[in-house]
Amino acid sequence: MGVCSLGDWLNIIALTALAGNLTQGSGFQAQSLAVGGVFVAKMLPAILLGPIAGTVADRFDRRLTMVVADVVRFAVVLSIPLVGSYQWVLIAAFLVECVNLFWVPAKDATVPNLVPKEKLEEANQFNLLVTYGTAPVAAALFAVVSALTSMVTTAFPASGVQPTDLTLGINAVAYLASAVLIFTLRSIPKDHTRQASTASVLGQIVDGWRFVGGNRVVKGLIIGMLGAFAAGGAVVGVGKAYVSALHGGDAGYGAVFCAVFLGMGLGMFFGLRLLGGLSRRRMFGLSIIVAGLTLAAIALIHDLVIVVMLTVLLGACAGIAWIIGYTMIGLEVEDALRGRTFSFLQSMARVVLLVVVAVASGLAAVFGLHVLTIGGISYQFDGSNVVLLIAALLAVIVGLLAFRHMDDRRGIPIGVDLMAALKGEKFVPETEEQPRGFFVAFEGGEGSGKTTQSRLLAIWLRDQGFDVVQTREPGSTKVGMRLRAILLDATHQGLSARSETLLYAADRAEHVEKVIRPALQRGSTVVTDRYVDSSLAYQGAGRALDPEEVAQINSWATGGLVPDLTVLIDVPPSVGLRRMASPADRIEAEPLEFHERVRREFRALAAAAPDRYLVVDGTLAQAEVSRVIQDRVREILPDPVPHEAEAATGTIPAIRD
Ligand code: TYD
Repeated sequence: MGVCSLGDWLNIIALTALAGNLTQGSGFQAQSLAVGGVFVAKMLPAILLGPIAGTVADRFDRRLTMVVADVVRFAVVLSIPLVGSYQWVLIAAFLVECVNLFWVPAKDATVPNLVPKEKLEEANQFNLLVTYGTAPVAAALFAVVSALTSMVTTAFPASGVQPTDLTLGINAVAYLASAVLIFTLRSIPKDHTRQASTASVLGQIVDGWRFVGGNRVVKGLIIGMLGAFAAGGAVVGVGKAYVSALHGGDAGYGAVFCAVFLGMGLGMFFGLRLLGGLSRRRMFGLSIIVAGLTLAAIALIHDLVIVVMLTVLLGACAGIAWIIGYTMIGLEVEDALRGRTFSFLQSMARVVLLVVVAVASGLAAVFGLHVLTIGGISYQFDGSNVVLLIAALLAVIVGLLAFRHMDDRRGIPIGVDLMAALKGEKFVPETEEQPRGFFVAFEGGEGSGKTTQSRLLAIWLRDQGFDVVQTREPGSTKVGMRLRAILLDATHQGLSARSETLLYAADRAEHVEKVIRPALQRGSTVVTDRYVDSSLAYQGAGRALDPEEVAQINSWATGGLVPDLTVLIDVPPSVGLRRMASPADRIEAEPLEFHERVRREFRALAAAAPDRYLVVDGTLAQAEVSRVIQDRVREILPDPVPHEAEAATGTIPAIRD
């Protein structure tokens, strides 16, 4: 995929540049139209052949389909510099795209067969990275090739080397390399060829489209993404002409292309992190609005360096919108409809791109070139500027619509939200009632003494005048007590790791809903003996389940409720287990290595978020452990400690466990 994507991007850059070069001297209009023509030729096949090509992937050996497609692409691309006419550029662009239509679904259908189910999402993210990540590589390659060939032609004017020819050569070799690579992947299954499905393809497509139209959020997302795409299409359609007007040449065009994708990468990976606390729905609309404003600036400022810098910002906004849209569709759309939603988005994106690119380059050509002279200062204004301004306006309107349509923080000014996000405050959806009390969890292995310490802390807090609810897991609710009996009964040896995890999570869901959340909402302080981390340590690390999955299940079970402080009482298992007097329950009876894994996981969790954890050495004297805990809790207590109770600080209640 990586090699092929690189080839695809080289193909786009080289062909649009070549179309411009081949029609050089025929005027601004003709050049704009020529570049637009290449895009039309590249988009047309998807619209004409899209649904049919998908079925080919389901009927024939996918590995061979891909290999044949690659060899054909290799031959067609190689022929372009050899023929060297604009007509052939168009035909070749059309042919390559037809072949792509067979290659892509064959690949898409193969990936789920090669990747384990639980890794599919990651694989899809990687797919996006590889698809778009190769674009800046291709653009940089093109810029380098252009610079090199211009050096060569200056030194040896007779050589006649063209950067576009060289780039197409590299492009062709990339396809050939892909053919060889895929040919060696003998593990690509072909079982599907035996059971060619007769299920109505048309019916399935219609179902998917109906769903997209009926879901408010998905509709908002798709309109936003398509709007952004339309704006992008306008840039693509007139980019080459605009860069030429700024005297950028091929290298300048490569730099602008590079800037778009550099920006997208920066936006996808750093933009989201920088504004991590902002509501995703607001960020989606906002990024499209900012993209529109940036585009307007690009259209008006006729300076290639500034345009390149603004283009990075434009790309970053597009990257943010794209990744949020993709992720939110992934979250909002159920599995069975997701594929069709994405394919709807992708085919609509092509239609939009086709129409916009064609209209944009046409419009730019019709408008032509104007020079405004106001008071001695002349300002060149051409069709590409007009198109970019229209696209900017479109992006701003679509962004505003998406923002208003999906806003989940109505009434709160966006500036306030942005400042908070920049300061690193976390966004809390308004539907979720904000708990007011203070929430402490105690964690640790067997015999660590956390039960005793959690009781001591509760007593100390009460002495300070706090209303404290002291509780534990598992078994603090009616249902929880029955779950606890199942979970800890030494005779239930047959319990599978997954059902064990779900039962602990069920107990916790009940605990949060019936005990913890109501108490926090009343303003009480809650001290719990064990919480989510126990499952991450015992079920995740101990039972060797996927920690991500255990975390997800628990985040769902608790509605995302996280303690303000987790006290980890750390004791080597050999010491802790020796302290246990009573007969072993089902989990205590596990071998020492199990408990070692549990301890390692607890410590890793604490190390990953030091501001939310306190790790105490449980082998210290009990009073010492209590003192360390109180010191830390005193620092972060939500309200000032009531004055009259201050005298009591430091007294350790005479309760021993
Ligand atoms: P408990 O009798 O409360 O023991 P402790 O005094 O050690 O807290 O039993 C809890 C047991 O359940 C303990 O061995 C750890 C295990 N456990 C899990 O495996 N996963 C969980 O999520 C929780 C809450 C407990």
